[in-house]
Amino acid sequence: MSTTTPPLSAFARGLTAETAFDVLAVAKRLKAGGKDVIELQIGDSPYPSSSSATRAGKAAIDAGQTRYAPSLGLPEFRETIARTVRAEFGIPAAAENVVVAPGAKPFEQFFCELFLEPGDAVLVFQPAFPTYEPNITRRGARPVYVPLRQEDQFRPGLAAIERFVESDPKAKAIFLNSPHNPTGGVATRDDLKAIADLVRGTAIAVFSDEPYCHMVWAGRHHSLLAEPGMFDHAIAAFTFSKSYSMSGWRLGYGVTSARYADLIGKMINTDLSCTPPFVQLAGMAALEHDAAERDATMAKFRAKVELLVGELGKVDGVTVLMPAGTFYVFPHVEPICRRLGITSHGLAMYLLEGADDRRGVACLGGECFGEAGRGFLRFSCAEPDDRLVEAVKFLADAVTRADRVRAYLDANSKYRLGPA
Ligand SMILES: Cc1ncc(COP(=O)(O)O)c(C=O)c1O
Repeated sequence: MSTTTPPLSAFARGLTAETAFDVLAVAKRLKAGGKDVIELQIGDSPYPSSSSATRAGKAAIDAGQTRYAPSLGLPEFRETIARTVRAEFGIPAAAENVVVAPGAKPFEQFFCELFLEPGDAVLVFQPAFPTYEPNITRRGARPVYVPLRQEDQFRPGLAAIERFVESDPKAKAIFLNSPHNPTGGVATRDDLKAIADLVRGTAIAVFSDEPYCHMVWAGRHHSLLAEPGMFDHAIAAFTFSKSYSMSGWRLGYGVTSARYADLIGKMINTDLSCTPPFVQLAGMAALEHDAAERDATMAKFRAKVELLVGELGKVDGVTVLMPAGTFYVFPHVEPICRRLGITSHGLAMYLLEGADDRRGVACLGGECFGEAGRGFLRFSCAEPDDRLVEAVKFLADAVTRADRVRAYLDANSKYRLGPA
């Protein structure tokens, strides 16, 4: 028998994915072995799924809402979503502008399939959500990275967008993410107005990723889709994962022109068929009944973020901003990395695996979000308050243990920091 196997596609061979899920797997393995791990690595909620959603989801299963549904989403759910984004964000949407999918993430692929051709250039601010790049390269297009900076509060720079649009002959699209994972940066209304003015009437498309729309800690959330003319240029992606603690239900939606929404419906038809109807009915109940519960949960996240920022700010070698949004804290730790000769993701893995035999802290190095993240750590805040305080104490102590760092680097030389 021949031993030949089919060669993998270049895309499959080069595929990268979210490191958070790898670190999650290590954390779970260590926990199963008896280690006490404070888990601040993944952007998930520690709270139960929204209560009306849970009730409605169960009732919908009992009522037989368990078969195929329209690819674009249930008409009554699309209507409810349109009403909600009109009221909450001033997005002038009707039901025809809404398309439902399993989470916000699938819209990265739909957007790329809608607009990108091989060779097209796509501006992506970095640090960046790790699945943007594979979705861009899947179409043979090319990400053009522009750094976000702590000194600019990690807001997307208009000048960089202008330069990209004017100077790259293959400029085709922009990925925006506000509030931003992992930095917590938020684009202001003025930023979005300026971006809208720049792209309106051009051939540029924008993916506006807005999963953290209810986690803005100063002022309120603004969507690019609320700016005039943006339905013809942009797709905004929203999710129930963060606002309603429903990450495992897999439910999100896109808002855009009816024409683009219909095309995305066709894409869903060709791969997913539809989003489960009982999940949609759960989401509809959350939108109709759980705004107060959601806001109470958001207030808890905000208090946790403030606590974590306050504690991290006390550690020598750490510079940390209060994020303008999201439940992530993104401290600059480069002086610590330099002193210890370890990369920032190495530092994260040392805190998890190497610093102590019985306890660990799971977080991510900023480079999990691209080169521009180097020198930073990302913490989510999905643990009780006392554990957040303990995690920072653990970090402060662990970085003084040069002997343990040395031993960890001897066993994991890939985390050694090269010359500056
Ligand atoms: C920036 C960003 N986009 C998309 C997603 C994916 O959201 P969902 O789980 O709803 O697909 C996340 C989740 O962490 C995110 O941070």
